[in-house]
Amino acid sequence: MNLKIAVLPGDGIGPEIIEQAIKAVNAVCHKFGHTPEFNYALTGAVAIDQTGDPYPPETHELCLQSDAVLFGAIGDPRFDNNPKAPVRPEQGLLRMRKQLGLYANIRPVETFPSLLHKSPLRRDLVEGADFVCIRELTGGIYFGEKGRKENGNVAFDTCTYSREEIVRILKLAYEFAGKRNRKLTVVDKANVLESSRLWREVAQELAPQYPDIETDYMFVDNAAMQIIQWPKKFDVLVTENMFGDILTDEASVITGSLGLLPSASIGIHTSVFEPIHGSYPQAAGKNIANPIATILSAAMMFEYAFNLNMEGKIIRQAVAASLEAGYVTVDIAEGTSRSTSEVGDWIASWINNN
Ligand code: IPM
Ligand code: MG
Repeated sequence: MNLKIAVLPGDGIGPEIIEQAIKAVNAVCHKFGHTPEFNYALTGAVAIDQTGDPYPPETHELCLQSDAVLFGAIGDPRFDNNPKAPVRPEQGLLRMRKQLGLYANIRPVETFPSLLHKSPLRRDLVEGADFVCIRELTGGIYFGEKGRKENGNVAFDTCTYSREEIVRILKLAYEFAGKRNRKLTVVDKANVLESSRLWREVAQELAPQYPDIETDYMFVDNAAMQIIQWPKKFDVLVTENMFGDILTDEASVITGSLGLLPSASIGIHTSVFEPIHGSYPQAAGKNIANPIATILSAAMMFEYAFNLNMEGKIIRQAVAASLEAGYVTVDIAEGTSRSTSEVGDWIASWINNN
């Protein structure tokens, strides 16, 4: 199969971790007889520096013309510390999501047996935890009306959802739950927010269409607590954009490191595969960042974008083998730690040899 992959390394550690994912993709393609074609494009702060635009039209065009997008990370402290910056790297990511119609962000939270001791939670709580958070990605407060009034002294962001947006993400979440353990938790703040009340209303209308799936409803503050207290009770969670952003960073610590969690953003046009972590500028160029979240995002790319499950599986097996062998970066190492590129090379050669 010919696989046309747009590669958007972005900022900070983005280029380093993407390079390791490409090694894994090449190894898998070599093994299974696929021909990858990688086309690189600019996004984030590097794109602002070179073109003034964090998601230039050429980048969008390339994404549209590709079978999948592999994305590194974006964000730069130069902008984080300047609330008055007229244009920000994050706007590139948000525009990419919106323009590609990526309304569903799939964030699986799985534990690795060899890393259970790295979790800040007790082993008996996390062992076997395995759930998926489905985050709505193109609506809500991220995209609602926002602005300043009263001479800039009052600011507002609006959380808006339409019935159609809620139906489409809930349907996708029900499909996921149907393929898993048939339990869907709808997370909202319906005791306070009108947009959440519409979510709950729509969910209650849809639930009877899925009689074999158990639906429950949870307020987001309670969900934040229960994810940590009883991570094993969840199967599929579905929630609006910002709740999903916050809950998945929280959920990532269950596995022991934010550097381990991949994601897939799917919807109308080309799907995007990216780690859930940020651009970790303090580590940029140091060859120390954990490439596993990005390598696992490449596994999701094979499964979701190309329907090539064996290819995804061997990447997962290679990652598990590196964790078991303790061939890992400093964030999860016990004794000797390995560099980003060493871990990437190890995983690629495991794929070649197995
Ligand atoms: C994420 C990130 C982004 C988000 C930022 C970088 C805009 O935190 O993908 O979770 O908030 O969606
Ligand atoms: Mg986030």
